[in-house]
Amino acid sequence: MRHITDLLKSSIKEINEYVPGKSIEEIAMGYGIRPEDIIKLGSNENPLGPSPMAVEAIRSSSQTISIYPSPDAGELRSVLAEYVGFPEDRVVMGAGMDGVVDTLMRLFIQPGTKALITTPTFSYYEIAVRAQGGTPVFVRRSDDFSIDTDAVVSSIDDSTNLVFLCSPNNPSGNSIPESDLKEILDRSDALVFLDEAYVEFANTQLTHLSYEYDNLVVGRTLSKAMGIAGLRVGYGIVPGWIYKEYMKATTPFAVNRIGVAAGLAALKDTEYRKRTIENVRIGRTFLSQQLSSYCHVYPSQANFIMLDVSPKKSSEVVEKMLTKGIIIRDCKSFRDAGEHLVRITIGKPDQNRRVVDTLIDILRS
Ligand SMILES: Cc1ncc(COP(=O)(O)O)c(C=O)c1O
Repeated sequence: MRHITDLLKSSIKEINEYVPGKSIEEIAMGYGIRPEDIIKLGSNENPLGPSPMAVEAIRSSSQTISIYPSPDAGELRSVLAEYVGFPEDRVVMGAGMDGVVDTLMRLFIQPGTKALITTPTFSYYEIAVRAQGGTPVFVRRSDDFSIDTDAVVSSIDDSTNLVFLCSPNNPSGNSIPESDLKEILDRSDALVFLDEAYVEFANTQLTHLSYEYDNLVVGRTLSKAMGIAGLRVGYGIVPGWIYKEYMKATTPFAVNRIGVAAGLAALKDTEYRKRTIENVRIGRTFLSQQLSSYCHVYPSQANFIMLDVSPKKSSEVVEKMLTKGIIIRDCKSFRDAGEHLVRITIGKPDQNRRVVDTLIDILRS
């Protein structure tokens, strides 16, 4: 007779659980620090909090939560379509971009297929591929974390269905040049998933290439610049031929009513978005300038910066920051990131000042 645990798909056993950034509650409990004295710069959230218009929309839609939302979040989809400049039937929705990735895995990944992942990068891709029984193939980024297009293209074979590219990349912060993306799209017959979670903070975006290429899917989210990470709203821009298939495979009602209402309001709040982006640009320059005499700061196009704290270990630096009530991210849990990289979300000006003062003390010690 089988043991009950034998019923689990073998591919699930190979998954290393996703490591999220630490929470304020965890640090308050673990280090005896008052929650109001802790700053959370480990998860690339919006330090300004939510848009007041989104909060108001949540309040006024709260009486409707006994009713299912529209199955395809149509009202939000059409506003997002306008926002990205694509027709509505090229935009798909998910519970966060993670949800979009999951649905795409249902469409394209099964045992015997592979997905190429350029490391170090966002760890959920690997989990999503393995959960569908696919095989992740890892191609390391170069020393400056740019993508070696030849290495990517030569690693693609007939069973490689998908290539994950993240731009700006988490955790390194650099963007993919348009010519590199085009080269990969031109030279490969796999589908490319371009993750643009942080694109609002970057100088360029490559979404428009989805007009030219029928093998490009772009992932987007309302978790970062739109500030509603807690509601889990993500979307994708897909080629026409994928749209119908996506709608067959997605969970119905993937985006909840509150998420739709808050998403619509956040998109309307251009003033909030402008403040958010300005805060990131100013804070990013400040942190980079202040810290670059003490460690290597990688240039970033995102709402975070990555630092090399060598010869110190990232775990040691992050732990010391935690004892001072500052949550930053140890990149050790990112495959191929090594033991010396840390990632810091751009905070508000007073938070950035505290990060600089505390971190310089630690790096000097
Ligand atoms: C590169 C990248 N893609 C996707 C996500 C997930 O986005 P969402 O909150 O929309 O699921 C994150 C979250 O941090 C991310 O860093």
